[in-house]
Amino acid sequence: MMNGFDMNNEYIEAVRRINAGKSRKLFVLTFGCQQNEADSEQVRGIGLLMGYSLTETPDDADIIIVNTCAIREHAEDKALSMLGNFKALKRKRPELVVGVIGCMAAERHVVEHIKTGFHYVTFTLEPNMLHLLPEVIYRKLALGKRSFIVGKDDGSLTEGIPAERSSGFKAWVSIMYGCNNFCSYCIVPYTRGRERSRPSESILSECRGLVAHGVKEITLLGQNVNSYKSDMDFATLIENIALLDGDFTVRFMTSHPKDVSDRLIEVMGKYSPKIAPYFHLPLQSGSDRILKLMHRTYNSEKFLTTVRKLREAVPGIALSTDVIVGFPTETDEDFEDTLRVLREVEFDLVYSFIYSKREGTPAARMDGQVDQARKDERMSRLLALSDAFADKKNKELIGTVQRVLVESRSKRGSESSYTARTLTNKLVHFTSDECLIGEFTEVLIEKAGAFELFGKLKK
Ligand code: SAH
Ligand code: SF4
Ligand code: F3S
Repeated sequence: MMNGFDMNNEYIEAVRRINAGKSRKLFVLTFGCQQNEADSEQVRGIGLLMGYSLTETPDDADIIIVNTCAIREHAEDKALSMLGNFKALKRKRPELVVGVIGCMAAERHVVEHIKTGFHYVTFTLEPNMLHLLPEVIYRKLALGKRSFIVGKDDGSLTEGIPAERSSGFKAWVSIMYGCNNFCSYCIVPYTRGRERSRPSESILSECRGLVAHGVKEITLLGQNVNSYKSDMDFATLIENIALLDGDFTVRFMTSHPKDVSDRLIEVMGKYSPKIAPYFHLPLQSGSDRILKLMHRTYNSEKFLTTVRKLREAVPGIALSTDVIVGFPTETDEDFEDTLRVLREVEFDLVYSFIYSKREGTPAARMDGQVDQARKDERMSRLLALSDAFADKKNKELIGTVQRVLVESRSKRGSESSYTARTLTNKLVHFTSDECLIGEFTEVLIEKAGAFELFGKLKK
């Protein structure tokens, strides 16, 4: 089922009228993943339609929207403490509108907590409901009412919400929403709802438009991006995007190892480097017993086979992964299994997380929660190992020429120092007399550390 998003939405018009002749500013603060970044771009797009201008600080904002993440306890704590900071602002300016969106706004107990404990929060709006933003703002401005929209997601999909993109040359394109996997530790299926995929034609026409406007990098987004399924599967969709004329690359995240089809591997090989030779493939654990408890539906052998196939089909491919340390009942042996897989694969980058109990997930109710000291000790061993491989992988690139997309001026180094990303998603610093931001160029790699490369422009 599809919800339309009518740009002449009566609430957009109504808020526009209320704002007419006044200078009204919107500030959006984003926590969490790329999906949230993409949603925030849509919030800004809707904000502009309603007559707001954008501001980079809460201090002069008339409306503050906090886009939250619920993936770990720490993420929630950060968002709530940030909300607390806005209390003083609200006291100074009683007409300030404060809204909470993102994954925390889908958790009933959090919404209840905000409703009763944060009186200055005007509304909460769960994910997949951004089309209701004009309505909840209108209800506050015109009727003085607070709104808490939770549990209303009916699995439908809204097309046509305009995005105010923060970059002119890089673009997120959401292709599917939600997740059906219910990994036992994870809150996402509860916050983002069931999987739904956009029709391929609207994705392709969005990509065509982006490329025509000079976008150099398109990142396809989804909680489980490679399980995309509409009138075509993910491999066919990305092949069709790669076939669009233009000088650009296409990336995607995040994938589930169970949905890496042979055909996707083949397409990645065939269209590399237009399809970036990079794959983020979350392992989570190297222990088959733990993987089973996590409901991951693959074992370490199957994971390693996928890695082998990817490396055969896509020469020079970079691989990154996510690992959770201290899942309930994880023993030293289980943890050693994880280290063994990491040694075998030699990932370019490992994102590691200490297991965090999420209310409402099956793992939170499991016996055998691992104590903090043991989690910390395993984490530091894992970091030492993964940093060593990251360093090794990066040093292998010294002396090679890498095609890079220049992103910004470097925060370190001189005026003429720039930061770019290789097609394999690695950070490179180099100097140039000419401003090359937003362009592809070639850099000879001269130095490398675990998290960055240094090079010079190839003449
Ligand atoms: N859909 C993506 C992203 C999920 S969130 C995927 O399936 O990979 C990103 C990462 O956060 C996950 O891969 C996992 O490693 C980590 N994560 C999720 N829930 C967690 C929890 N309860 N505690 C610690 N890490 C968690
Ligand atoms: Fe969470 Fe698993 Fe879905 Fe990823 S695949 S979002 S880890 S439930
Ligand atoms: Fe966080 Fe929700 Fe993304 S929990 S990681 S913002 S999908």
